[in-house]
Amino acid sequence: MSLTSGQGRCRVAVLVSGSGTNLQALIDRQRDGRLDANLAVVASNRDDAGGLRRAAAAGIDTLAIRHRDFDGRELFDRALAGALAEYRPDLVVLAGFMRILSPWFVARFDGRILNIHPALLPKYPGLDTHARAIAAGDSRHGSTVHFVTDELDGGPRVLAGRLRIEPDDTPESLRARVLALEHRIYPQAVQWFADGRLRCRDGAAWLDGKPLTEPVIRDF
Ligand code: GRF
Repeated sequence: MSLTSGQGRCRVAVLVSGSGTNLQALIDRQRDGRLDANLAVVASNRDDAGGLRRAAAAGIDTLAIRHRDFDGRELFDRALAGALAEYRPDLVVLAGFMRILSPWFVARFDGRILNIHPALLPKYPGLDTHARAIAAGDSRHGSTVHFVTDELDGGPRVLAGRLRIEPDDTPESLRARVLALEHRIYPQAVQWFADGRLRCRDGAAWLDGKPLTEPVIRDF
């Protein structure tokens, strides 16, 4: 892998489907100098994604490629990868991208895709994580940054943000508090990758040259 910007800065493509508050956290961090990475392009499968508007407002190039225009997952993914290629991304950051990526796309960016999932993985892959954590009577919940593999929400874990579930928490209140901690942990993981401290190798996440058997945990 090469960091090809010529400025030594990691080139990042961010994929969004929704409002893009995690994208905004990356933009804000980069602006105030706390994230040293080049947010080269923001792409979405939905042309109405709020994340595209946030990117445009920040002067970042945007791509809207509607998945409905393609006959099958891999054809969409090939079009997406083709459009991203112009930006030569070193890292693909999924920030609320609501499409399962094909094995082809995952292999194309092997070890260079990060996702954030609102649960303390391996608990609660998939949807409705906050309601499921409350219904199970869990005392803690949170969010996990992980590398993307073909297993949904199952790739090597990097960094988890954890908080206590309060007795009066609802799925909505929990969602809001987890989202706020995501805005702290996702830029940190992206910075680790941009600094060359974080890599995915041999099916594991490596930080500072050591494989992570468990994600780094930050309590909030
Ligand atoms: C976050 O909860 C994230 O964990 C999940 O999708 C949501 C994206 O929210 N993958 P936003 O669009 O960044 O506000």
